[in-house]
Amino acid sequence: MAVVTGAANGIGRAVAAALGARGLRLVLADLEADRLAEVAAELDADTVAVPTDVTDTEQVERLAQTALDRFGGVDLLVNNAGTMAGGPSWQIDPADWQRMIAVNLGGVANGVRVFVPQMVAAGRGHVVNIASVSGLIADPFNAVYAATKHGVVSLSESLRGELSLLAPEIGVTVVCPGPIDTRMLRGLMDNATALVAGGPDALRERPEAGWFATVTADQYEKLTPLFGAVTDLNSVMVTPADAAAVVLAAVEANRLYATTHPAWAAKVRDRSERIIADLLASPTERIRAIALGRKARARVEHGGRVARRIAFRCGEVLGGFREGFRGN
Ligand SMILES: NC(=O)c1ccc[n+]([C@@H]2O[C@H](COP(=O)([O-])OP(=O)(O)OC[C@H]3O[C@@H](n4cnc5c(N)ncnc54)[C@H](O)[C@@H]3O)[C@@H](O)[C@H]2O)c1
Repeated sequence: MAVVTGAANGIGRAVAAALGARGLRLVLADLEADRLAEVAAELDADTVAVPTDVTDTEQVERLAQTALDRFGGVDLLVNNAGTMAGGPSWQIDPADWQRMIAVNLGGVANGVRVFVPQMVAAGRGHVVNIASVSGLIADPFNAVYAATKHGVVSLSESLRGELSLLAPEIGVTVVCPGPIDTRMLRGLMDNATALVAGGPDALRERPEAGWFATVTADQYEKLTPLFGAVTDLNSVMVTPADAAAVVLAAVEANRLYATTHPAWAAKVRDRSERIIADLLASPTERIRAIALGRKARARVEHGGRVARRIAFRCGEVLGGFREGFRGN
């Protein structure tokens, strides 16, 4: 049986449908209770809907208890619930910072903390964490979201390492989707489209648009190409069902990393190469080289002093010999 969080919409809903179609029994969780109940009713599977806020540890514990009571344990946990807000890092509302950290990272942490012990005890299971390509590269104006998704990637890597030593029968997969046609991405694209079409004031009366509602004329001028690029995501986004297929295939292959947009692996390679190039050219390396140089110089100087002492001593000895020779 499988537990899917954030199952009322988008990727979570599609993953639930795909798992249900494979005959898995489901426990679905989401903040949106009504929408969740509709999704559960739509699915042709033995499904329980448990309204859950993944940021609340007690609610996640209750979710796990429901899965245990109803189905006797969890074979697959999909930590999918997520939220997004963009803008310059220093302009993102503190409440949005907190919400993204609490849901995207804290929600996954709660899932791991509560469900993994059950899996370890049962000797079976697989954890899927839905991160993002933003967990592997960091685009501007996406700092907090990207930071949380980087956290999900590294948490998944650590978890996989830990389980490979302590409970190797439990798998871990971190899925890093590119653009998927869901409410989350549509919201972003709608805001960008409104600005491109209507100028910097287009969303002024729409506080729910977050930073997009506050864009200044100066920022607008500098960022128009970026807004255009966001609207262009239309041409590369894939469906939630495509994303669900990627999730299932990665679990079956017990792969650690998976994405819906393999071509974007090039971005990850570029970032890794930039990191490595800068690390190798970093001051630490130069400081080490300088330190080594200093040591080598010191060795030469020490050697010189020793050599001079030896030469002096030899001179003394030779002088003594000469004196002695003359004396004879
Ligand atoms: N859509 C994309 O382009 C894209 C790309 C990469 C990664 N992702 C990630 O995929 C996951 C699903 O996103 P989506 O695009 O389907 O978005 P979505 O908004 O359609 O669905 C997210 C779901 O999570 C639920 N949720 C939010 N906060 C919650 C909380 N505290 N507790 C429980 N449920 C909560 C929402 O109610 C919603 O049903 C997210 O983690 C997102 O970051 C999405």
